[in-house]
Amino acid sequence: MIVDLRSDTVTRPSEGMRRAMMEAPLGDDVFGDDPTVNLLQERAAEIFGFEAALLFPSGTQSNLAALMSHCQRGDEVILGQEAHSYRYEAGGLAVLGSIQPQAIANRPDGTLDLAEVEAAIKPDDPHFAQTRLLALENTISGRVLPQSYLAKAADFVKRKNLSLHLDGARIFNAAIHANVKVRDLCAGFDSVSACLSKGLGAPAGTVLLGKKEFIQKARRARKILGGAMRQAGVIAAAGLYALENNVGRLAQDHRNAELLAEGLQQLNLPVEQYTNMVFVRIAPHKIQGLAEHLKKNDVAILPGPRMRLVTHLDVDAAGIDRALDAFGRYF
Ligand SMILES: Cc1ncc(COP(=O)(O)O)c(C=O)c1O
Repeated sequence: MIVDLRSDTVTRPSEGMRRAMMEAPLGDDVFGDDPTVNLLQERAAEIFGFEAALLFPSGTQSNLAALMSHCQRGDEVILGQEAHSYRYEAGGLAVLGSIQPQAIANRPDGTLDLAEVEAAIKPDDPHFAQTRLLALENTISGRVLPQSYLAKAADFVKRKNLSLHLDGARIFNAAIHANVKVRDLCAGFDSVSACLSKGLGAPAGTVLLGKKEFIQKARRARKILGGAMRQAGVIAAAGLYALENNVGRLAQDHRNAELLAEGLQQLNLPVEQYTNMVFVRIAPHKIQGLAEHLKKNDVAILPGPRMRLVTHLDVDAAGIDRALDAFGRYF
């Protein structure tokens, strides 16, 4: 069995999850007829403390639909240089949303300096795009944004008359780490996108949360983007199962990431660890050889000078030992 540390998206649905998918009552969700989708959306709205929720096939589409629902063509979103929606979503906000991104450098803890955000807000002048939205990410490369910062950001957008979106692809990791409920981390946001297919282990699915009126707009954006699915209850059932069974256990992933980080440190490698992610610096001339060695030893990684290793529900403590053993034999 391969110890796959490339991402927490590599998990396969468990037996119980597959059974839930097989047995889910289904209908046509474009007509609003799928009882399992409806149940997931109600449950998610309750958990996150929002009026409504909408199921998307992916986090990329959910983020884009959210941005398109907050911004008109030619409007501007302020977000981090490291934000997934800025860097890793193929420029969809510009390509499909006609939204101008204004990127701000993330600070080492993943936050954006609100004074810099303020300076980036465009004046009301026809030369400029109209700044409508601030978008944050939590966790961001595993880092948990401090709750005190979230409160400041929420207060800031109110004063500046902006909306606030959260890419909460891994918001449950943040909640488990901070020992709070997800709703406490989402309270000041106008919209939150939360993935079911990362640490929670579902094969697909992201929920977008917001007010009823906002979710109505997002439903239209989802249709434009081709994300309205028919008997989507098979996916929703996996999401419901994940919310029921796979949230508390994220603490194990965090512990396994700690074990991995400790073991790599003992090999004198420079390591950082946040929630379920470990970043280890590898000398450039060693990357290729290490990647080949790990592959031969059934450890999957994404090679790079700052290599990201991710723990998840398909890697247990024994898997971490095997990975460390393979690293140890190389260094
Ligand atoms: C922070 C973050 N946001 C959004 C996404 C996009 O999710 P998806 O792969 O489901 O499109 C990812 C994917 O890894 C992510 O890490």
